[in-house]
Amino acid sequence: MHILVLNGPNLNMLGTREPEHYGTQTLGDLEYMLRQEAAQMGITVTCYQSNHEGSLVDQIQAAYHTADGILINPAAYTHTSVAILDAVKAVKLPTVEVHISDPDTREEFRKISYIRQACIATVKGKGFAGYIEGLHILYDHITAAQGQ
Ligand code: DQA
Repeated sequence: MHILVLNGPNLNMLGTREPEHYGTQTLGDLEYMLRQEAAQMGITVTCYQSNHEGSLVDQIQAAYHTADGILINPAAYTHTSVAILDAVKAVKLPTVEVHISDPDTREEFRKISYIRQACIATVKGKGFAGYIEGLHILYDHITAAQGQ
């Protein structure tokens, strides 16, 4: 089983960026943690971060042939991007939306998530642990769908 992990804009600044919302660990720490967890689960992950909407769309499209599921934190594009929603709908891969903070308890504009309607689950407000939870949700979903 192979999972594509996508992180959107400004998440390359984790560790520096607004630690009151996102903590002090880096994107490198997050990706290392996910690779370790994946190895323990007997699956593989590809981690990718971009500040560009079109690059995220390209990665989702490429996943059509290479991945069994997508774990995505679209960051600010959560609240604006119909293009990322449409890409997830196009590839029809099981997708989990994850957020480090809980956007629903912050500013009004963060309460809208375009991608949510195309996701099998949303995990929010649990820090980096939310990514691990999301990985397990995908694993269980894909395993069940394979009838194993
Ligand atoms: C975020 C929440 C978004 O509102 C914000 O734009 C981000 C990060 C989170 O992980 O909590 O960049 O997705």
